[in-house]
Amino acid sequence: MSTTHTLDTSTSRAHPVPSPMKRLTVPKIQAMKGGDPIVMLTAYSARMAQLLDPHCEILLVGDSLGQVIYGLPSTVPVTIEMMCAHGAAVVRGSYHSVVAIDMPFGSYEASPAQAFENAARILKETGAAAVKLEGGEAMAETVTFLTRRGIPVIGHVGLTPQAVNALGGYGARGRNEAEAKKIVADAKTVAEAGCFAMVLEGVMEEIANEITRNIACPTIGIGASVHCDGQVLVTEDMLGMFERTAKFVKRYDDLAVRIDQAASTYAAEVRSRSFPTDDQIYRAGK
Ligand code: KIV
Repeated sequence: MSTTHTLDTSTSRAHPVPSPMKRLTVPKIQAMKGGDPIVMLTAYSARMAQLLDPHCEILLVGDSLGQVIYGLPSTVPVTIEMMCAHGAAVVRGSYHSVVAIDMPFGSYEASPAQAFENAARILKETGAAAVKLEGGEAMAETVTFLTRRGIPVIGHVGLTPQAVNALGGYGARGRNEAEAKKIVADAKTVAEAGCFAMVLEGVMEEIANEITRNIACPTIGIGASVHCDGQVLVTEDMLGMFERTAKFVKRYDDLAVRIDQAASTYAAEVRSRSFPTDDQIYRAGK
């Protein structure tokens, strides 16, 4: 059954019709390992969260908002303030999915204590249930530190966009044996450190398969084949908002073209004074 929403503009609160399902929990996501595929999409705004929420198990407030929303060249300049503002909006717009928020570059790598302080801030200010952080073995101690202190963590290995300066680009990872072994070892270490799910981004199919079969938590793939326990895409990519997308993106719509057409029709009607019409104006006594 699909859910529709009315938006109370005075509070920005969405009221779902029919009444909301209970929100999923981190243990429920964990328990999906090897079962029904986990559906995850990114969301950065309340309205998009409302639309995606009935279809997803996890809504990710990805630091990809740096490029998608802010027009930044990478995720590196993204701040905690951006993640908190968009994270809170997504929590307000959702009732069903687990909301997870990316820890931005520079907010968790220095020490487990730094990571705890910033992850706690993100959860307090947004109401989200979990954070996601990038990295392999070097992040294992931090993942254990956070999870033992009540902060659920999603790991992220393979292509880790925050490391773009070190990696030299966004190409798929694990093309040679040494790199493939390192990614598998990283995934196992981070999973054993306590994360409840793990994003595998831009890795060879064989690597995704091996990791998925050998770690206890669900894997969620993006450019990592159908062998993963779930899939994630950047919503604006799959909606066709951008001319160029990675090979692993499937476009489910062509919104950029449709927005261009709508804006063009609007502009033409404004210029020809055929908008607004009687239907859109206020008249005394009406
Ligand atoms: O930032 C993001 O949107 C992500 C997903 C693509 C996994 O990390």
